[in-house]
Amino acid sequence: MNPAQHTEYFSPGRGAHLVFVGAPGSGKSTVGSLVAERLGLPFADVDSVIEHRTGQPVAEIFADQGEPAFRALEVATTVELLRQPGVLSLGGGAVTSAEIRDALRGHRVVWLQVSVGQAARRVGLNEARPLLLGNVRGQLIKLLAARTPLYAGVASITVDTDAHDVDAVVDSIVASVTELGQNVATDAVTTIEVTAERPYQVLVGHGLLDRLPGLCGDQARRVAVIHPPTLVGLAERVVSTLAAAGLEPVRIDVPDAEGAKTAAVAANCWSVLGSAGFTRSDAVIGLGGGATTDLAGFVAATWLRGVRLVTVPTSVLGMVDAAVGGKTGINTPEGKNLVGCFYEPAGVLCDLDVLQTLPVADLVGGLAEVIKCGFIADPEILRLVQADPDGVRTAGSPVLREVIERSIQVKATVVSGDLRESTSTGSQVGRELLNYGHTLGHAIERREHYRWRHGEAVSVGMVFAAELSRLAGRLDPKVAARHAQLLQLVGLPVRYRAGVLDELLATMALDKKTRGSTLRFVVLDDIARASILEGPSRELIAAAYDSIAARPSP
Ligand SMILES: NC(=O)c1ccc[n+]([C@@H]2O[C@H](COP(=O)([O-])OP(=O)(O)OC[C@H]3O[C@@H](n4cnc5c(N)ncnc54)[C@H](O)[C@@H]3O)[C@@H](O)[C@H]2O)c1
Ligand SMILES: [Zn+2]
Repeated sequence: MNPAQHTEYFSPGRGAHLVFVGAPGSGKSTVGSLVAERLGLPFADVDSVIEHRTGQPVAEIFADQGEPAFRALEVATTVELLRQPGVLSLGGGAVTSAEIRDALRGHRVVWLQVSVGQAARRVGLNEARPLLLGNVRGQLIKLLAARTPLYAGVASITVDTDAHDVDAVVDSIVASVTELGQNVATDAVTTIEVTAERPYQVLVGHGLLDRLPGLCGDQARRVAVIHPPTLVGLAERVVSTLAAAGLEPVRIDVPDAEGAKTAAVAANCWSVLGSAGFTRSDAVIGLGGGATTDLAGFVAATWLRGVRLVTVPTSVLGMVDAAVGGKTGINTPEGKNLVGCFYEPAGVLCDLDVLQTLPVADLVGGLAEVIKCGFIADPEILRLVQADPDGVRTAGSPVLREVIERSIQVKATVVSGDLRESTSTGSQVGRELLNYGHTLGHAIERREHYRWRHGEAVSVGMVFAAELSRLAGRLDPKVAARHAQLLQLVGLPVRYRAGVLDELLATMALDKKTRGSTLRFVVLDDIARASILEGPSRELIAAAYDSIAARPSP
């Protein structure tokens, strides 16, 4: 399956969905059909569709074939109906199926909340079985206790139906969706699929943190939230959301940035998980920039040989690069990322609202990877950056969102084709494509003792790689020149000091040991057409370096 990208809007005619969930007696069918009527959208009720198709009432299917057979039919029907535009009302127990909860991601889900007393009254009245009220009430108490966290995990709108009559409930839902519908750009949730051993989705949108409980898996009870001190407020919000959904969150505050990526910090996380009694079925959330998600991934991969991992990247670099693709790791005194493993997350949640607090310099650092994605795979990114450089530097802008989504799509496509970085051989470029600009970039980072941001070093490294491509006679000089233009436009550095090439080459030679015996550079033959330049001559490298070396000031 190829990675696919689909954006859902709440707007008629665009494959949109408003999905109603809730306990028996919450009024899903009544409210759902009235809301659909008011919005002029088609309406379907999953149970009614099943009854119509099988010619049997749901209760009879339960009795004749058993609950598992009914649930299987329910999953298939729900998934099918979710692909069609309109308003859909699910069965009361639908959220107990993990497949349905997964299928609901990216849809606008309305949870109609109802108390046991009210639900029992409505069910009793509807079914005209007042004598069963005692039993119905007992069953409802059990059902609501088990399902409340599941409803909370999938809902993006929650409406209390107890205190209001049907008309008032319908009014409030119509008002909230039409208000959101006016701002399609911020209301949409984009889902990007990553094909892996266990495929997963990257969700991008605003206000998505409330979806975290739903991503923790139906088995999880305890959830560790690993975060840096800078994000303690956000972590506390996440912890309350998880607790409200009936989970047992454990907050683990780790040092900021690279300070988190050490064996000592990982060991500390393991001991917190151990003391809290984390089992195989519990989950770890990495909430932070790339450093935090790299550490959290490593901890999740190693605890009990692997527990569920959800990454919530909070930096642009984390969203477009670190949190997607399954590489986890920590540093050792000998170098960066020397210890780690491939471990895919169960889901990645990119809530664009969290970027509001990201320092601009960090945001701009992440744009180097965005522009890289433009050059290696998606020229539209380059056009967008050129057309609105201020916009892409601004958290909350639609253009930043678009370039982030496009970059995640590029990364998803590349890693889906080469999960373990193994198909890059000879002149064939697999996942190594993502290393465009990184060979020199890594050497600069190291020479600067990691005081430069990763993206800043990669920015210079890309200008160098483009020069190398041009001097090797592969790349049009205009395309090479466009690198420095675009990177400078957003405020990234494009030069590095003169006279240190030998030092940098020595570092690159060390780096290359991880790959083979000759120095390899990812170069471009054109935009979106990369290849490998293996063992270029010292003269060629020196000439390319010369064109990026900072001239001493007069
Ligand atoms: N696993 C991978 O595939 C992969 C890919 C690229 C980079 N990385 C790793 O990612 C790391 C770099 O990522 P990064 O640039 O996100 O660095 P980072 O995690 O160090 O974050 C940069 C700074 O921004 C702060 N920050 C993050 N989000 C914030 C927010 N929303 N509000 C306020 N402050 C916020 C952090 O606390 C930190 O001080 C490196 O360790 C690198 O090795 C991993
Ligand atoms: Zn990078």
